[in-house]
Amino acid sequence: MEKSQTQKTIAVFGGSNGVGRQFVKQSLDRGHQLRVLVRPTSKSKALEHHPNLTTIYGDAFDRSAVLATIQLASIIFLSIGPGSFSSMGNYPTSKAQRTINEAVNELPEGHIRKMILVSVVGIGSSCEDTPALMQFSGNWLVPKLLDDKRAAEDALKEFCTFKNIEWTALRPAILNNCNLTRKYHASEHTKITMLNAMVGRADVAYFALEELIEQNLWANTSVTLTCCP
Ligand SMILES: NC(=O)c1ccc[n+]([C@@H]2O[C@H](COP(=O)([O-])OP(=O)(O)OC[C@H]3O[C@@H](n4cnc5c(N)ncnc54)[C@H](OP(=O)(O)O)[C@@H]3O)[C@@H](O)[C@H]2O)c1
Repeated sequence: MEKSQTQKTIAVFGGSNGVGRQFVKQSLDRGHQLRVLVRPTSKSKALEHHPNLTTIYGDAFDRSAVLATIQLASIIFLSIGPGSFSSMGNYPTSKAQRTINEAVNELPEGHIRKMILVSVVGIGSSCEDTPALMQFSGNWLVPKLLDDKRAAEDALKEFCTFKNIEWTALRPAILNNCNLTRKYHASEHTKITMLNAMVGRADVAYFALEELIEQNLWANTSVTLTCCP
């Protein structure tokens, strides 16, 4: 993985698993400093020791733990979700986003420069790009998940616009654990089909690092991520 031109300090929420864990690994490979909030009750494998990694133990709903995580950072990456189907019914993203907003409010103006939220396709403007069958099954299988992500995006946009902080909401369709390919399609509008719906967690993390953080693209918008069909 190529080293970053400018080392950043990034606060990560959801770094113990999934997209967040990929983001932690790739950020360290690029030479960034990371502060990662991990729940003490996490059943995920512990993050490996690294000189650029600080682990803060706590919950994303706890403002003091969140504040401790973000206070030395300039970028916030939030990839918190319910995890496995057994945890469905627990929709944590909007509550975590609001707790982060409250903590950012306690920092001096200009301290946090960018906030990135991993959301999901099928909300906002991407709703019309999602096939009716997928919308129906998404609403039927996990109805509150979409409401939670919509509320998280709203909280992100409203807060960042008010505070003059750059924001991006990433909307992957269906995630998988394939190896990093660096081949994906990013757009504010993408028709989701059976052929492009899957995208790798590693590629979502790569996109965030390469295009949002390194190249400073896609500021103040929501972007749908799919694989190249
Ligand atoms: N699965 C899909 O196909 C899909 C599609 C589109 C978008 N998404 C969204 O993409 C994001 C990443 O999904 P993923 O499947 O890669 O990851 P994931 O396996 O859902 O990981 C969720 C992360 O959130 C953490 N977490 C949950 N509640 C927390 C809390 N209260 N405080 C601190 N940490 C908390 C978990 O920590 P623990 O280790 O403690 O559990 C874990 O690290 C999620 O927002 C998900 O909803 C998923």
